[in-house]
Amino acid sequence: MVRELISLTPDLDKQNKSPLYHQLYAYIRRQIEGGVLRENERLPSIRQLASHLNVSKNTVETAYQQLMAEGYIQSRLRSGIQVLPMEKLTLGGSGITSGAEPERGEHEGARRDEPDAIDFEYGDVDRERFPVKAWKKCLADALNDRFDEVYGYGERQGHFGLRNEIARYLYQSRGVVCSPGRIFLSAGTQQSVSLLCQLLPLADRVAMEEPGYNGVRAVFANHGREIVPIPLDEDGLRVDRLRMCGAKAVYVTPSHQFPSGIVMPVRRRAQLLQWAYESGGFILEDDYDSEFRYQGQPIPALKAMDAGDRVIYLGTFSKSFLPGARLSYMVLPESLARVYERQMQPYSQAVSPLIQTAVYLFMRGGGFEGHVRKMRTLYQSRHRTLIRSIQEYFGGRVGIIGQKSGIHLILDVYGRSAPELIDLASRHGVKVYSPAIHWTDPAQCPESYVLLGFAGVNEERIGEGIIRLRRAWFE
Ligand SMILES: Cc1ncc(COP(=O)(O)O)c(C=O)c1O
Repeated sequence: MVRELISLTPDLDKQNKSPLYHQLYAYIRRQIEGGVLRENERLPSIRQLASHLNVSKNTVETAYQQLMAEGYIQSRLRSGIQVLPMEKLTLGGSGITSGAEPERGEHEGARRDEPDAIDFEYGDVDRERFPVKAWKKCLADALNDRFDEVYGYGERQGHFGLRNEIARYLYQSRGVVCSPGRIFLSAGTQQSVSLLCQLLPLADRVAMEEPGYNGVRAVFANHGREIVPIPLDEDGLRVDRLRMCGAKAVYVTPSHQFPSGIVMPVRRRAQLLQWAYESGGFILEDDYDSEFRYQGQPIPALKAMDAGDRVIYLGTFSKSFLPGARLSYMVLPESLARVYERQMQPYSQAVSPLIQTAVYLFMRGGGFEGHVRKMRTLYQSRHRTLIRSIQEYFGGRVGIIGQKSGIHLILDVYGRSAPELIDLASRHGVKVYSPAIHWTDPAQCPESYVLLGFAGVNEERIGEGIIRLRRAWFE
């Protein structure tokens, strides 16, 4: 059935450097993706829209042609120009579509306005090979009558079966031995840290790597903690400086220091644990992307060496599976687990029981391990392509920092400054970022650093992105 003709009122800006046809194309695409324009809805004819918007027919025609080429709309003899069904949209892309309102955050807005921009945003994961079908099935199965919990609040500590699966996974992939009773689920790493601050007598003074993950620094600060920045050397956090600072808790990313990418060697790990045992302090180990290591053997988690039980292990599904699941967990030392359990009694679990049950089913059926394996291979080839392209096109004009593992790296573009680099890149249709927010004082971040995340960009676009950057920065 063909729906009523709708009217379009984009705010076209003739001064904008993006051509009018492109602005119009981006506007209509946003309306379709956001569900404002729905399946079978009829768009105005080229003549009508050109006259309504006071632009040339050529402008409208070019915008429509682009939308047709990308499969958003089709032109039919008697029905005019129609919006295609959403299912058709999912085939070529991620498979993840949204029927939600198209209001977006600022960082997403830029990407949508420039659909061709190659975005090296850190935090994205691959969407092209995301197992949508299997995940949908797990979600549907979770709604099955057998899983009563999805209709209620669910267990406070988190779905038991899922905690069991996590315990098994941690043992097999990270060398961590723990029972499900020591695992507590939460809705993201920040919520884990926030709950730790609220529910445990965690020290007033907390040490952090400098630079270190801004997302966690903000949580400590908002809970009134005094944060002591501890410098890094080539082995990661300087334990000698930690000893001097008097903090009784330290947050670290030993498997892949964020953002510098340093992998903490075993000797430094032993020193860090020794600090905890001698001082009675706790170590918060954030193991956010340890699945993705490309050189040498996987390194077990620090928690796996923790004979004295002073490490609070923080894990997340954001990198290994999907940030949108908002699912993370912590493994607490025995001494803290019981206190935490008591203190959390008035709280309900923040992660939707539906998500928990679906992830449980996904893990139990082997889907999760298979997915991690597949993503490791995929990210490894993206990583290889990125490094090769950088070497080929930039040569000795840049240094690469933190390239052994993970899904991001830092480029040191010798003698240049991030604001200029970011601006030039954006003019050539590439988005790169400054890592400066991860320094306590962003001015201390070397100006020549830019951060590139690569998990969400396929190999072809990685290569194209680096060629564009070469043009932008060096030609
Ligand atoms: C160091 C670090 N830890 C954890 C996370 C993941 O956080 P969440 O579990 O809230 O998605 C990130 C994501 O960007 C990170 O960079």
